[in-house]
Amino acid sequence: MAEELIVKGQSKREKYLVLLPQIKALIEGEKDVIANMANVVAALNQTFHFFWVGFYQVKEEVLVLGPFQGPVACTRIQFGKGVCGTSWKERQPVLVPDVNQFPGHIACNSASKSEIVVPVMIEGEVVAILDIDSDEFDSFDATDVIYLERICALLAKTF
Ligand code: SME
Repeated sequence: MAEELIVKGQSKREKYLVLLPQIKALIEGEKDVIANMANVVAALNQTFHFFWVGFYQVKEEVLVLGPFQGPVACTRIQFGKGVCGTSWKERQPVLVPDVNQFPGHIACNSASKSEIVVPVMIEGEVVAILDIDSDEFDSFDATDVIYLERICALLAKTF
């Protein structure tokens, strides 16, 4: 999807530029990471109205479902499994334009068509995963990667 795409008068990039300082202000004075993850997903959803947006936290060598908005989802994901487990293993964002083309994709909801996963890192270690699903194909691009990484970096400071 083109970065220049205009949604309700603002490009995706413009929306992220408005959202970033809001998220920074929301979380920088709060030490509770669950509260911060909850507000980050709410802020993202208020701006973009995603099909599903949420966090998985690394807990004792497994990803465990954290704060999210959207339909009910899988509660635990193993290292290296699915898009989330792959992002954790690779320590990199993973962009999936068509979930049917991603081997091992975990379908928590059959309506999900494309997905982006960005790790929350502290000193090179993944502590959580931000997962966003769309019910349309090809919803995410490099712009999402850039700004979601910045949001995850802000959040990492509160872990
Ligand atoms: N599709 C993800 C699982 C999490 S749900 O999308 C919320 C995956 O393959 O890891």
